[in-house]
Amino acid sequence: MAEYETHDYEVLVIGAGGAGLRAAIEASANQARVGVVTKSLLGKAHTVMAEGGIAAALSNVDERDNWRVHFADTMRGGQYLNNWRMAELHAKEAPDRVRELEAWGALFDRTKDGRILQRNFGGHRYPRLAHVGDRTGLEMIRTLQDYGIHAGMEVHMECTVITLLKDDGRIAGAFGYDRERGRFLLFRAKAVVLATGGIGRAYKITSNSWEYTGDGHALAYEAGASLMDMEFVQFHPTGMIWPPSVRGILVTEGVRGEGGVLKNSDGRRFMFDDIPENYRAQTADNEEEGWRYTQGDRDARRPPELLTRDHVARCILREVREGRGSPHGGVFLDIAWIKNRLPNGAEHIKRKLPSMYHQFKQLADIDITQEPMEIGPTTHYMMGGVRVDADSQMSDVPGLFAAGECGAGLHGANRLGGNSLSDLLVFGKRAGEYAARFAKNNGAASVDPQQIDAAAQRALEPFNRTGESPFQVQQDLQELMQNLAGIVRREEEMQHALIELRRLEERANRVAVAGNREYNGGWHTALDLRNLITVSEIITRAGIERKESRGAHFREDFPSKNDAVGRCNIIVRRDVSGEMQVIREPLAEMPAELKQIIEEMK
Ligand code: FUM
Repeated sequence: MAEYETHDYEVLVIGAGGAGLRAAIEASANQARVGVVTKSLLGKAHTVMAEGGIAAALSNVDERDNWRVHFADTMRGGQYLNNWRMAELHAKEAPDRVRELEAWGALFDRTKDGRILQRNFGGHRYPRLAHVGDRTGLEMIRTLQDYGIHAGMEVHMECTVITLLKDDGRIAGAFGYDRERGRFLLFRAKAVVLATGGIGRAYKITSNSWEYTGDGHALAYEAGASLMDMEFVQFHPTGMIWPPSVRGILVTEGVRGEGGVLKNSDGRRFMFDDIPENYRAQTADNEEEGWRYTQGDRDARRPPELLTRDHVARCILREVREGRGSPHGGVFLDIAWIKNRLPNGAEHIKRKLPSMYHQFKQLADIDITQEPMEIGPTTHYMMGGVRVDADSQMSDVPGLFAAGECGAGLHGANRLGGNSLSDLLVFGKRAGEYAARFAKNNGAASVDPQQIDAAAQRALEPFNRTGESPFQVQQDLQELMQNLAGIVRREEEMQHALIELRRLEERANRVAVAGNREYNGGWHTALDLRNLITVSEIITRAGIERKESRGAHFREDFPSKNDAVGRCNIIVRRDVSGEMQVIREPLAEMPAELKQIIEEMK
């Protein structure tokens, strides 16, 4: 019989990034007893990697902006695979969520007349990103944490959940361990909100830190929930590439929003070479016009560096593949050029992008006010996730909710920068509210001691084996996904990835760890491997199923968008025999008034 400590909650939130904290605050406000479990320390979350701002149509900088334009931009950026109801709710509710955050103490940069300042970002028609320098996500987490800690939630830091518990089909809680002592923990709960973030650690080059091993995605899948759009992995165009130890660290899109330009080794702004048809009317075809736009000239068109992330990442890859890359295999991002255009230019750059200035100075010995940065794409965000009801965020498992990056629907085939922060506020709040409501309307579920014993026994198996190190298996998995299911994909490569994933799974089932259960990094990695392999297989199977190129999913063997086969969501779930099932689901019909908005905005 496993030994464990038991905690009882009405709502259990797994994950304490922006979505988890916002869900916990709302569930508490709705009188639920709330527990929050976080794999890391409170405040350490990928939310802080959304540096450049939060997207909300506040129309402080351009009064032409409103929720309709934000809705249309989000749908176009997502190549119309988005859940339109989520895109509508998001665009309508984001401004209130930002104002609320400000009322809770978040500090934002200001316009001259004292309103929240907004900057340009890729795919957003107007300056829409409320920001504080290039530390917006950090400010958001700080605020939610300060506010949330007084809202009555109990926080369990450095705890990892290894399985969700169910009772007759509905959720009953979660079982995990505390990383410090290695003791097992049982959380009984009437409702569970998954807010575990993304899957970045399935890839070799990523902006994600060690926590992001697809836990929520895999837990939901194992519990019988459907996952959707998992082929759409966002490769942020600009991550650091040199020195090797910092490869993948994010270089905010805010650099391009403030006038940064991309150049190849010939010194040419290659983004002018390939402007997609549906963005041509709004995109500048010369440097001067792009710069005028950056400076606030409303009649000018946007610089091509602010096209959507999927497109920019592919253009960078093209330059590198065709031999016009930088010395370490990327391209150049230059913000230093603007110092000659502005009085106190170097100071302006430092003021607008303080973290980037320090990041490059300290990590790469580069002064970004004087010289260009070397950058390349980095795995940043998972558009896919748990399929949820748009209004309530409940999955198809009763009582199981998902919000933020581990939920799916809002972003379709490609997310616009800054929409992640507004996503997690809008849908974190909704998940918390509806989870509390579910808990009130449903009695306690009972947990099955046999399920708990089986999970505990399985978790301890690596201590009883003499096999290879889990770190080697994790490294090989990351290499595999980077090479065979990365920015550019092909059928035979993904089929090959599936075969290799089977081998990795066999190896993962044999890995061994030494030592005891206290702070044992090898053991933690051995347990994470299961989730990493599950999400990698789901990404690969969904990628094989989507036989076209759309948004972040680019198939070299099917290089065009093909509405005849592609206007669907790809759903992955476990069938009754435990096999992975891949299903195409037609898109839900959009109401006429939303269709009209999209038509008008075109
Ligand atoms: O580039 C950035 O600052 C990232 C923003 C985001 O992913 O939303």
